Amino acid sequence: MEMIRTAQNKERAPRNRTITLADGERDRFAQKLLQLTQPVSATELEDKTVNQDLFQVLDYLPLRFVDLLFVDPPYNLTKNFGAASFKEMNAEEYTSWFSSWFSPFLRVLKPTASIYICGDWRSSGVIQAIAEEHLVIQNRITWEREKGRGAKSNWKNCSEDIWFCTMSKHFYFNADAVRLKRRVIAPYRDANGNPKDWEQTENGEFRLTSPSNVWTDLTVPFWSMPENTDHPTQKPEKLLAKVLLASSREGDFVFDPFLGCGTTSVVAKKLGRHYCGVETDVQYCCLAEKRLEMAEVDQTIQGYSDGVFWERNTLAYQNGTSRNGKASNHQMTFCLGEGASTHEK
Ligand SMILES: C[S@@+](CC[C@H](N)C(=O)[O-])C[C@H]1O[C@@H](n2cnc3c(N)ncnc32)[C@H](O)[C@@H]1O
Repeated sequence: MEMIRTAQNKERAPRNRTITLADGERDRFAQKLLQLTQPVSATELEDKTVNQDLFQVLDYLPLRFVDLLFVDPPYNLTKNFGAASFKEMNAEEYTSWFSSWFSPFLRVLKPTASIYICGDWRSSGVIQAIAEEHLVIQNRITWEREKGRGAKSNWKNCSEDIWFCTMSKHFYFNADAVRLKRRVIAPYRDANGNPKDWEQTENGEFRLTSPSNVWTDLTVPFWSMPENTDHPTQKPEKLLAKVLLASSREGDFVFDPFLGCGTTSVVAKKLGRHYCGVETDVQYCCLAEKRLEMAEVDQTIQGYSDGVFWERNTLAYQNGTSRNGKASNHQMTFCLGEGASTHEK
């Protein structure tokens, strides 16, 4: 197979759509990044990427300007993030690391703010304890991560948690904005022969379902998806779209203190929210800026269209190219971008 070399000198297959920085792009995007050396206003942070260690910027952030906080911290695992790395600690140490930035950070949140905090099964308990201390816990979302190595003496690790919390009992939540469109398995009809709770369309039979706290429709970005980068723990845009549509309004300020390659900011931009993120690694910040530039011409979010979320492997149904509720073989091949099994990045 013909291979392509990137500026980072990695070999890629021609169908590989991973976003990389071409020669010269790193310098161009690096010029857009902020570095804080004194207190700033919310307006100065609006739609910006801060390339710094979060601990260096905590004191410079303004009071009560964030409507929605999305926290995807290093989980308590030994992992390399570009130039930086995180070393696994015991639960007590992870608790004290988490509290050391989270407690001072609370002052930037509006009293009506919502907070989502990601973790795996190990760090989830620590997060729950810290959230109980400072916030109102509304729910715990568990999402299926279709990857992970099989284990001989344990269950394969294929899920993650997201704690949904708020600052108070007064908060915004829009369940209608995050409904899931599912294919109907058993299309029951009422006594008059009319569909019960589902609709017949020329592309098949579908039901709009209420959003639950178990998400099985996500795909971790991988090489043939247009949102993919080389970041080792990049979140799916579809996951952020659910969070942002449910818990923020257009024009709200969304903040991400561990921005990675920019997923939160990119989805905020696509959905008309203001955003700011902090990330210590300059390469990831530049990837975030490149994705933000790409979002100026392409606002699509894979798996979200016509105001609803779709199950995995339904691209042909979404764009109306299925016949009689069935996608052709060619279309199903095309669909695999949404939900094909992934590999460790
Ligand atoms: C789990 S990843 C976030 C991935 C992100 N949600 C995305 O979709 O790309 C955590 C990120 O936090 C960054 N990070 C770790 N410690 C940091 C710190 N003290 N300040 C700022 N960023 C930090 C890492 O470089 C890494 O990119």
